[in-house]
Amino acid sequence: MQNTQTSGPVRIGVIVGSTRPGRRSTAVAGWVTQVASRHPAVRDGEGVVELVDLAEQDLPLLDEPVPALFGDYRNPHTRRWAGVIGGYDAFLFVTPDYNRSIPAALKNAVDYLYAEWNGKVAGLLTYGVQGGTRAGDHLQAVLGEVRVVVVPTRLALGLFTDFDFADAPPGDPTHPARLKPEDGREQSLTTMLTEIVTWTAALRAAGAAADRRPELVG
Ligand SMILES: Cc1cc2nc3c(=O)[nH]c(=O)nc-3n(C[C@H](O)[C@H](O)[C@H](O)COP(=O)(O)O)c2cc1C
Repeated sequence: MQNTQTSGPVRIGVIVGSTRPGRRSTAVAGWVTQVASRHPAVRDGEGVVELVDLAEQDLPLLDEPVPALFGDYRNPHTRRWAGVIGGYDAFLFVTPDYNRSIPAALKNAVDYLYAEWNGKVAGLLTYGVQGGTRAGDHLQAVLGEVRVVVVPTRLALGLFTDFDFADAPPGDPTHPARLKPEDGREQSLTTMLTEIVTWTAALRAAGAAADRRPELVG
């Protein structure tokens, strides 16, 4: 596990998983941070929630000669990205469904690193015509390979149920629409955030116990 804090507030990075101009992910991630700011753990200082926008990271397609598992990062952009992800204890991924999976930019960003994801906790929020659940299933499998534990509550926002297209000119596929989550979505997101904080605390406690009993590991 890399850089994970063993005490102090749980630092949660909200990963904005799409990068195209006019993307809806920024509105969804903005809603996540708003809801998170009202969460008791965040209000009490037990949790800190920050946006991590992949578009700002500007990562090229994977150009590292050595697989991330070996931790031999050669490029400055990889080391910078490792510093960003290493600074968080947990993540909340916001991703759309692109052709039954996650956007290439998100897969690429995961593939760049290994240790910095390891042993951390994540929640998944997807969106798409049918909630983007297939992207969520793929992301969960991908995260399993880098040893990220995904909490049980997942959120799937429907493009035609959780977004309002009333102001969109007919036939304009670029209109971002207005995010208007259905009743109950905020409660589900709050539950997911609770799970992220609780599971991270549990992993910290397990790590501390293992440190006290080194004969139990390895
Ligand atoms: C390349 C591409 C592929 C898509 N494929 C799917 C899909 O398989 N299933 C789905 O429900 N929506 C699909 N959509 C619709 C997206 O879920 C929707 O446009 C969403 O807003 C895209 O996220 P973004 O706005 O953050 O880029 C696709 C959109 C794009 C751009």
